Amino acid sequence: MLVPANAYDYRQLAKKRLPKQFFDYLEGGSYNEHTAQANITAFNDVQLRQRVLQDVSKRSSAHQLLGKPVAMPIALGPVGLAGLFARRGEVQAARAASAAGIPFCESTVSLCSIEEVAAASKGELWFQLYMLKDRGYAKELLERAHACGIEVLVFTVDLAVLGARYRDTRNGIAGAQGVRAGLARATDLLSHPRWLLDVAIKGKPLVFGNLQAAVPNAKSLPAFKHWVDQQFDDAVTWQDLEWVRQHWPGKIMLKGILDASDANIAADMGFSAIAVSNHGGRQLDSVPATIHALPAIVDAVAGRCEVLVDGGIRSGLDVVKALALGANGCLLGRAWAYALAAQGEQGVANLMATFKAEIDVAQALTGCTTIAQINRDIVITNNG
Ligand SMILES: Cc1cc2nc3c(=O)[nH]c(=O)nc-3n(C[C@H](O)[C@H](O)[C@H](O)COP(=O)(O)O)c2cc1C
Repeated sequence: MLVPANAYDYRQLAKKRLPKQFFDYLEGGSYNEHTAQANITAFNDVQLRQRVLQDVSKRSSAHQLLGKPVAMPIALGPVGLAGLFARRGEVQAARAASAAGIPFCESTVSLCSIEEVAAASKGELWFQLYMLKDRGYAKELLERAHACGIEVLVFTVDLAVLGARYRDTRNGIAGAQGVRAGLARATDLLSHPRWLLDVAIKGKPLVFGNLQAAVPNAKSLPAFKHWVDQQFDDAVTWQDLEWVRQHWPGKIMLKGILDASDANIAADMGFSAIAVSNHGGRQLDSVPATIHALPAIVDAVAGRCEVLVDGGIRSGLDVVKALALGANGCLLGRAWAYALAAQGEQGVANLMATFKAEIDVAQALTGCTTIAQINRDIVITNNG
């Protein structure tokens, strides 16, 4: 392939470029991966209504997310360990997002620290946090993000416990590993010399930038997994979110809402936004595809907070479908990580240009010159 044309092409390139264990970590869903797949295929159940002979000569994809202007209604969502996909991966992705005029969300479990990313990118940054049992450490992370000038906290609520990812188990990165598994992993790394040079050698230090004080052996993924199992708090309730509010002066988006009842509580509590998400099908398999869950949630929220959505979004057409079903914007996950793994910052920048062009054409051919004009009238769903 000479020139990758879309997210699927970047996926192919990422598969070649990355050691199998890291491509599988990126690509995989939980259990039988039904939901991870359904997130993608469900977009085929939503069709765009083509309209003709409307003057669409003046079009704009500009919009607002969480009160800030964006060039298109997209943010790069939190993807943990992105620094394993390309050298200083989070920095490269944040720079590409900044150039594209969209926010970049730094995951708690990034390789580059929030300070490194903030120093390297002038664009809008968000910070994602999981609730940790060690509230003192969680508070410290919030303070660090705030000190970097970040105003939006993305608080992930769908990871009380970890869904099993069988690919990671098979590749020996989901728990304790024996000598044979260790050798197989090393062989996998050594047989990807371009990755080895770019990431393992030139991309040092390979540590969890936000968690250095907490993760005893940041170079070992099994040790990290152990820390996650120990620290992620399965006792968290809606009441605990008051603690988060007390310690975060900015806006908060709850990420991982999939049910209208939960969306209703979040809106009642006055959160700025929710992200309709099933963690890219990486948590509870067999839950609904997000694009199917979205309309009922939008109806339940009834404009009380912003509703973003992620899961299976691979093109600007998918973005327009999500907007038509009531989303204010979309988070990208694997799509940007594929581009990063394939071609670094330039890959992410090129993919964002592709998304923008795809949104533009979908707007033009559905007769919408602004993002605000996109509504349910421009789609036909399988339900009518
Ligand atoms: C490799 C990988 C790592 C992820 N890490 C995080 C994370 O650290 N925090 C988080 O809230 N979500 C995380 N997610 C979930 C994404 O933010 C997002 O919900 C999901 O990827 C969207 O689905 P998509 O990849 O099909 O677009 C991760 C997803 C992937 C694929």
